Amino acid sequence: MEPLRYDPFAPEVMTDPLPIYARMRDEDPVCFVPRFDCFALTRFEDIWATARDWQTFSVERGTTSAQLLTRKMGPYPALGNLDPPRQKERRKLLNPLLTPGAVRALEAELRAISKRQAALLREQGELDVVTDYAARIAIGALCLSTGFPMEDAEQLRSFVNAIFVREPGGGGLTPEGVAAYDALSRYAMDLIGRHRAGAGYASGLIALLCEARVEDGRRLEDDEIAGHLREFMIGGTETFQKAFAACVHRLSEHPDQRREIARDPRLARDAFMEALRLDTPGQFMGRTALHDTQIAGVPVRRDQVVLLIWPSGNRDPREFVDPDRFDIRRRAPRMLAFGAGVHDCLGRHLAIAEGAIGIQSLLEAAPDYRVELDRSLRLASEFIQGFTFLPIRAS
Ligand code: HEM
Repeated sequence: MEPLRYDPFAPEVMTDPLPIYARMRDEDPVCFVPRFDCFALTRFEDIWATARDWQTFSVERGTTSAQLLTRKMGPYPALGNLDPPRQKERRKLLNPLLTPGAVRALEAELRAISKRQAALLREQGELDVVTDYAARIAIGALCLSTGFPMEDAEQLRSFVNAIFVREPGGGGLTPEGVAAYDALSRYAMDLIGRHRAGAGYASGLIALLCEARVEDGRRLEDDEIAGHLREFMIGGTETFQKAFAACVHRLSEHPDQRREIARDPRLARDAFMEALRLDTPGQFMGRTALHDTQIAGVPVRRDQVVLLIWPSGNRDPREFVDPDRFDIRRRAPRMLAFGAGVHDCLGRHLAIAEGAIGIQSLLEAAPDYRVELDRSLRLASEFIQGFTFLPIRAS
């Protein structure tokens, strides 16, 4: 057998990482990656414990591959790049927008969006689940929960999409991606300007951030506010599209489970969670060690980066019985698609509601939809994986 060598940018890792993750879990669970002088964690328990140990593993030097590995981008002041206590204070400020209660209040509008898109499938006979369905729900939910103007939804979607596009060859974030990221920053600044000029975003995320007093009573700078806005724009859209398309695909592979949901729509939520576990879109987020430490007996030096390979943890047989099986009744008590610890996903209640409502509306409109897998396209990326194009037909 070939010696085990892991590089997140290797073509086989960017297109089909599960075989190497399985080997890493068994042979080298705290795997040293010489190219980046970092470690990659693949077992559930190690990832879970490291993500929760914020006193040792910091996010302040970044968490993404562009921040920690290729260094094409610096960290920016938002929840995901702040350690407690600053992160906890900001999170408390933003949390009211995304509590289960706040999400419940949006459900009727979310259902209206997904029913409208599902009706298109019936009218046209065919639809791309990623762009014409999941993306509409994700951007709609983002605008509803934050107060971002709905008329900007399409522009927002195209900026975010461009950030995640990858060229073959494994260079990570592309120059077009950097440009889209800058455009998103300008758009965020423009929203702040419009708010300050009295454009009427009286409630919602922008107002919350503009009015806030943080730390010792200071106001946030505009670039800090823009950082938080960008985090919501990016965090809330791309991953959802990938997870949702994966769920639609899995259910077409398992028509018996799909029929169960049609009979009991409450199971749609479980199906979405199980697809998130089995087809976790985010490949990893990283941390930097603040002092010398050990992970599962392996020494990690201060300033070394550690990658948390979420999809591998989510397929770890030490945590999940028969982990490669799609089972909507699994209801795993723990999983890693939304992270773990103080930085776990702030938008998870919203994402789960979007997923459940989206599946319910789709099955109401087309309970026997057919996936055209031969024509589907997937993103080959070190960072986010999943379908970029998944056509389905009404029957
Ligand atoms: C299926 C969809 C989603 C997935 C798979 C996902 C995944 C994640 C993961 C893995 C993290 C933790 C990152 C880390 O530990 O470094 C995270 C954090 C975060 N997510 Fe999500 N997310 C999703 C949807 C959303 C939505 C809809 C929003 C907002 C509208 C959102 C906002 C955030 C924010 C603000 C954080 C940072 C939390 C903190 O650092 O305290 N996410 N997400």
